[in-house]
Amino acid sequence: MKVELDINAETRTVEVEPRTSLLDCLRDKLQLNGAHAGCEHGVCGACTVLIDGTAVRSCLMFAVQADGYAITTIEGLSPGPGELSILQDAFCETHGMQCGYCTPAMILAAHSLLLKNAAPTREEIVDAISGNICRCTGYAQIVEAIALAAERMRGQNQPQDATP
Ligand code: FES
Ligand code: FES
Repeated sequence: MKVELDINAETRTVEVEPRTSLLDCLRDKLQLNGAHAGCEHGVCGACTVLIDGTAVRSCLMFAVQADGYAITTIEGLSPGPGELSILQDAFCETHGMQCGYCTPAMILAAHSLLLKNAAPTREEIVDAISGNICRCTGYAQIVEAIALAAERMRGQNQPQDATP
């Protein structure tokens, strides 16, 4: 069956089986491979995308259920080709990633938080990423990245100009 999906502000028409998950549709039909397949049963959070700004596990949703909603994947957060968003840049700066497997999902969960809460507490940041498992970092650098990005989005703690 055909489904029309609004992904990263573009309408994409895709042929799927009724049972095709949104995760498989994104990865296999649309080559949006930033949504990672981990457990594929709702536990690890690696497949997180945003549906109308809310973090959702794309392995638990059928592609047809996403019709009519605005879907954002990690590919949609970059301001332009080869550019990083403030949040993505903060993850690099604070070493908020190691293998990177959890990173797109972590960034989307954080992005969803910052859309709703410009000045989250540490507890609110931890809560926002509590559904996303990272086996590498120990989480501290991820929390630091999100806190730094929140400050920068509020105009504080801007990066130092590298040029003398
Ligand atoms: S792959 Fe979806 S929650 Fe693990
Ligand atoms: S950086 Fe490896 S799983 Fe998070």
